[in-house]
This record gives sequence, structure tokens and C-alpha cells, in this order.
Amino acid sequence: MSVTMFDVPGAQIACEVAGHGIPLVLLHGFPFHRGMWRAQIESLAGECRVIAPDLRGFGESTLAADDIEQGVAMSRYADDVAAVLEDLSVDEPIVLVGFSMGGYAAFQFAFKHPRRLRGLVLCDTRAVADTDEARAGRLKMAEAVLAEGDSKAAEAMLPKLLSAANLAGNGPAAAAVRSMLAAASPHAIAAAQRGMARRDDVRSRLGEIRCPVLGVVGAEDAISPPAEMREIVAAVPQGRLVEIPESGHSTPLEQPAAVSEALREFLREA
Ligand code: MLT
Repeated sequence: MSVTMFDVPGAQIACEVAGHGIPLVLLHGFPFHRGMWRAQIESLAGECRVIAPDLRGFGESTLAADDIEQGVAMSRYADDVAAVLEDLSVDEPIVLVGFSMGGYAAFQFAFKHPRRLRGLVLCDTRAVADTDEARAGRLKMAEAVLAEGDSKAAEAMLPKLLSAANLAGNGPAAAAVRSMLAAASPHAIAAAQRGMARRDDVRSRLGEIRCPVLGVVGAEDAISPPAEMREIVAAVPQGRLVEIPESGHSTPLEQPAAVSEALREFLREA
């Protein structure tokens, strides 16, 4: 395992690379960092080349000067991933995995670079844009974290990020989510929330995704519920869904072994 910093326009992206073989690129969600994939990196690095970046602003990656004010567009996160792959000289098609906000970025990557994809995994993510209410909530959180200078306002998300049982049980998944929430930079939170608030509804474009698509969703996901993810995989030409029991939204953390196994099987097919 090694962590390398990559220069992208206006920022630096920290990226962990481990193993050899088919490139498996893991995009984390909000307001997490690449550490959310620890179990999958450890489980899969013996079988493929795992590439796990911190999206700009999160973890060890930096933001450009205007990212906070303007928000980071989902296509910007996708462009950063393309730049990192270029620097790593990854020429062969990749399997791209996007969790939640990472999925919003993965859609943009898929539309822009269809030939670079061997397969796409959409994990607990959404194709619809925000409602006006959700958008207003994001902009309010952006203002609050900037005014307060910490990530406390984002902690209100906690009950939606885990199943009720996993939240109450306070096990490793809850600890990881709490620690990533506390560690998230207010600048990264504001930049991402402003970017997500203006992301496109991509439902009408799902038919463009020609590669095999695997949906992975926690059975109790309150943010991107199974019914919504079923519609996504039904709208792509080659899609299937794995629904993982005893998990809320943060499935790679709540059921790490099941997610690793689903990815392993998809890699084999790819
Ligand atoms: C995430 O887990 O990345 C977020 O819940 C996505 C969102 O806020 O829409």
C-alpha cells in the first residue's frame, strides 16, 4: 500500500494504491474519505489493483481557492479521478465503484469516459437531483460549518448514515462514521454540499451506460433506498442489484465482508 499525492487543477489529490491486476477505483461518499474502504482495500488488494483517492478537500486532499465559494461540481471530482489515472498510466479499462456522493461523481465519469469502464458499481447512491428542500438544507449546512469552523453541523446526518440497529449498537461502523464526520474539514463539507446541491438529475442518461453495472444497497438505506436503486439498475442495459441485509446507508462500513464479496464476484465477471 502506498499513498501518493497527485497534482490536479488547483489542488492535490491523495490516493492509495495497492495490489496488481484489474484497476478497481473506489470513490468515497460525503463527508468521508478513502478510509471508508479500508476493509475492501485489505480484502481485494491481493486480486486487483485498488486505487482509492481522497476526493478534493477530504482526507489528505486539498481544495482549489474557488472551490468553497463555487462548490465542487460532480464532474470536477470525476475529472480529478481521470487525471490521477492518467498520472498512474492506467490505460486499461477500470472497474469504478462510487458510494453515494462518489456515485454522483462516478455517473459523470461514466458519461465522459465510457470506453474507460470495464464495469461500474453504484453503491447506495442516487440518480435524481435534490428537491428544493434538500438543496436548501445543503446550502444551510455549508453556511453553518463555515460560520462555526468545524464539522458539527454535519453530525446531524448521523441517524441517516447507519441503520437504526447499527447506530444503537455503536460498533465499528458507527465508530468509523462518527470519526470521519468529526474529522471532515468544514471547507470540504461546504464545497461538496454546494456542488451536490446543483448536481444534475441523471435518470434520463442511464441508458448511455453500456458497461455492466452492479448496484449495491443496504436493505435499510434511508438516503438511497433499495426501491430507488432498483430503478437505476433497471434503466441501464446491463444492470443487477445486490441488496445487503442489516445495513443502512453506509453499507461498505456496516457490512464490509458482504460488500467485498459482491465486488470480488463482479471483478471475476468483469
Ligand atoms: C453520501 O453518503 O455521500 C451522502 O449522503 C450523499 C448525499 O448527501 O446526497
